[in-house]
Amino acid sequence: MKNVMVLGGTGFVGTQVCKQLVQNGWTVTVPTRTPERDWPVRGLPQVHVVDLDVHDATALTKAMAGHTAVVNLVAILHGNAAAFDKVHVALPSRILQACHDNRVRELVHISALGANAQRPQDCPSEYLRSKSRGEAVLLASSEEPLSPRVTVLRPSVIFGAHDKFLNLFARLQRFFPVMPLAGAGARFQPVWVEDVASAVVRILAQDVPDHPAVIEACGPQVFTLRELVQLAARLGGVRGGLGRPVIALPDWIGRIQAFMMELAPGEPLMSRDNLDSMKVDNVASATVAGLEVLGITPSRLEPIAAHYLAPGVQRPGIAEQRKL
Ligand SMILES: NC(=O)c1ccc[n+]([C@@H]2O[C@H](COP(=O)([O-])OP(=O)(O)OC[C@H]3O[C@@H](n4cnc5c(N)ncnc54)[C@H](OP(=O)(O)O)[C@@H]3O)[C@@H](O)[C@H]2O)c1
Repeated sequence: MKNVMVLGGTGFVGTQVCKQLVQNGWTVTVPTRTPERDWPVRGLPQVHVVDLDVHDATALTKAMAGHTAVVNLVAILHGNAAAFDKVHVALPSRILQACHDNRVRELVHISALGANAQRPQDCPSEYLRSKSRGEAVLLASSEEPLSPRVTVLRPSVIFGAHDKFLNLFARLQRFFPVMPLAGAGARFQPVWVEDVASAVVRILAQDVPDHPAVIEACGPQVFTLRELVQLAARLGGVRGGLGRPVIALPDWIGRIQAFMMELAPGEPLMSRDNLDSMKVDNVASATVAGLEVLGITPSRLEPIAAHYLAPGVQRPGIAEQRKL
């Protein structure tokens, strides 16, 4: 029986995870808080989008019945300590309990590069500290009877046709004459969304039965944030590929800028906690296994991003995304 529940399956990464799971013969349940929205996954065969408050333990346990595997991609980037705790710590704990109650055998949890389950307090931001505490809850369960096998995937920043960073950098440079950039020197190792989705599928298929419990998902190249902004402009053909001048902001100005963004209505582009996350490079540690352990050779960014950032290229709409 190949029934999997994908929490966060409506999101950027979750959509690709669902597509690949379907291609590999899985039947997928995707809970959402907003079932009325026209989610791209809704049109996929063997995907059932269900109206569910995943924070409701009773409802979650009931909805999980009949599933042999669970993938958790639910996360937030902004919020106060209580919100991070609810989504990144209490929810994984609730998911684990529901897995126990339903005898689920495999749990794949998407965390973030830089999380540290052994020493959450060493992480620079509330986002990473809460991600770390969530990992710790799940990894500690591995010795318990009836516990699912837990695999934690820690991606660096993720790129793909619908990403929220290269697309954003290209778009901003089309409108603004200069790019004031906080954390310009922070380093990242971007990973392709399809490689992250492949990792999930391979873990669930038990392609590598004895894979490590924690795997870092990083691409083959390291870029500074400044380089990524410039790359987005070049590939997106902004000002003939020249892009806009990048002005690296000193830390204190970056914090003021982030604070102002937090005050603006809606989801902020950047928060002070995001800046805190960038105090530590977002690159592979030398101590944790990478995607190669699952037989995946991570893809290079440029040839893929060139395709979706190119001027005049229409980003696929929902109808196109539905085609497998
Ligand atoms: N994107 C990246 O560059 C990146 C980098 C490193 C790690 N990650 C990790 O990868 C995972 C997926 O990221 P993503 O970029 O695909 O995220 P996303 O597009 O923002 O999707 C997040 C999903 O979580 C659900 N969700 C959000 N807040 C929730 C809440 N308060 N309660 C219940 N559900 C909530 C949403 O479902 P509904 O709105 O349908 O309910 C949505 O499907 C996350 O764990 C993230 O931390 C992402």
